[in-house]
Amino acid sequence: MINYTEKIPNNVDLGRDRVLQRALEHWQPAYMGWWYDMGPNESHNYEVYLRTAISVEPDGWAQFDYVKMPEYRWGIFLQPRDEKREVNFGIHKGQPAWQEVPGEYRSTLRRVIVTQGDTEPASVEQQRMLGTSCPSMYDLRNIFQVNVEEGRHLWAMVYLLHRYFGRDGREEAESLLARRSGDADNPRILGAFNEPTPDWLAFYMFTFFTDRDGKFQLCALAESGFDPLARTCRFMLTEEAHHMFVGETGVSRIIQRTCEVMKENKVEDPSDVRALGVIDLPTIQKYLNFHYSVTLDLYGSDVSSNAANYYTSGLKGRFRETKLEDDHVLTDAEYPVSEVVGGKIISKNAPTLTALNERLRDDYIDEIADGVGRWQRVIDITGIPFRLTLPHKGFHREIGNFAGHLISPDGQVLSEEAWKNHELEWLPNPKDHAYVQSLMSGRVVEPGKFANWIAPPARGINNQPLNFEYVRFN
Ligand SMILES: [Fe+2]
Ligand SMILES: [Fe+2]
Repeated sequence: MINYTEKIPNNVDLGRDRVLQRALEHWQPAYMGWWYDMGPNESHNYEVYLRTAISVEPDGWAQFDYVKMPEYRWGIFLQPRDEKREVNFGIHKGQPAWQEVPGEYRSTLRRVIVTQGDTEPASVEQQRMLGTSCPSMYDLRNIFQVNVEEGRHLWAMVYLLHRYFGRDGREEAESLLARRSGDADNPRILGAFNEPTPDWLAFYMFTFFTDRDGKFQLCALAESGFDPLARTCRFMLTEEAHHMFVGETGVSRIIQRTCEVMKENKVEDPSDVRALGVIDLPTIQKYLNFHYSVTLDLYGSDVSSNAANYYTSGLKGRFRETKLEDDHVLTDAEYPVSEVVGGKIISKNAPTLTALNERLRDDYIDEIADGVGRWQRVIDITGIPFRLTLPHKGFHREIGNFAGHLISPDGQVLSEEAWKNHELEWLPNPKDHAYVQSLMSGRVVEPGKFANWIAPPARGINNQPLNFEYVRFN
C-alpha cells in the first residue's frame, strides 16, 4: 500500500485521517489512470522544471525542481484556519463559520464544488496536444506547470468531496475522472470547457480569459461560510495567478513580435503580415472576441435565483465580499442588468440578490479591460495604429439575457443576415485557424530558441536564464 502521507504533501493531517486515506486509496490510482490517458501527450518521461506546493507559507510554499509529471506530488493544502472567522454575508451573517457541511445546504454545496472541480481536469484535457507544437522550452514548461496545478486543483475539490460528503462525495469524485472535455456522451459540465484549445494563441487566450473566470469563481467561493471550502480556494488562488500570467504575457509576446515584424518590414496589410510568418492583429482580435464571449457565459444567467440562494445561504459571496461596504444581506439593493427589448439593448434594475452573476461578470470585465489595455500599450509603443477592443458584453453569448440575440461587437442588435455578413470578420474562421495551425506545425525546443511568431519573455522562471533547460526529454 502507498504511504499517502509521504506521497501527498498536505496540511490536513492526512496521516491520521483513516476515512480520507481509504477514500484516496481508490481515487488516487484512478486519478493516475486519468493522467496517463488525458494528461499532456507523450510527456510521461520528461523531466520538467516545476514548482510543487509544499506548504502554505507565503514565501516558502513552492519548491522548484525537475519532476516527471506522473510523479508530481499533488498535495492537499488549505489556508490555515482563523478560529474567529464568521459567515460574512447572507441570512447566517455573524454566525461562526461552518466547519462541517450544514445539512440543509448539503446538495447545493456539493454541486458548487463539483462544478468548480470539473473545470480543472477539463482544461488539462483541452490542452493535452499542445506540447507537440510549443514555441519554446520555456513555454512548454509553463503549460506543464499549468496542467499539473489544474490537477492539484482537482485534488483540492476531491479532498472536500471525500472529507465532507461521504458516499455521494466519493461517487462525484469518480465522475470527475469519467467526464471528458468535448465528449458527446459524457461532456464536462460547462460550455467553455468543452471547446477545443487547438493552438497556442487559443491556449494563451484561454489562460488569460478563462483561468481568470476561475479566479473570480474561486474568490467568490473563498468568501464561503463553509470554512474548508473558503480555505481551500484561498490557497488555489496563489497558483492561479501564474496561469493568468502565462496567458497575459503569452498574448503580449505574440503582439510584440507581430508589431516588430510589421515595423521592420513596413507592412500593415494582414496578408503581408501573414506572409512574414507572424499572427496578424485582426486575427488576435478575433481570438480575443471568441474567448472573451465564451468565458462571459460561464458566469451564468444575468438574473438567477440560484445565485441569490447561494448568497443568501452563505455559500458563495461576492468578489472581495468582506471589503465591500454595505449590509452584506442585500435584500433591498438593486443592480443594473441588460436586456434586449424591441431590437434595442436596455438597462433595467433587478434585485441585487438575483443579479449576483451579472455583478461578478462585471467585476471580471473590469479586470479584463485592464489587461487588454496593457496589450494595447505594446502596440502603441510601436506606433502602429491598431486598436484592440473588448466586444460588447452581449456579443456571441449563449447564456443569459443575450442568448438568442445577435449582437455586434459594438453593441448593435442585428438581423440574422447582418450577422452572417460579418461573422467571419468577428470570430476566428476556418482559414484563420488553418493559418495559425500552419505556424505551429512543429515544436521549438532548443534551449533559448523561440518560434518566429512570438517574442521571448522578459525573464525566465524562478530567476533562471531564458536558455535554461526547462524540460529534459530523455
Ligand atoms: Fe484551476
Ligand atoms: Fe488555472
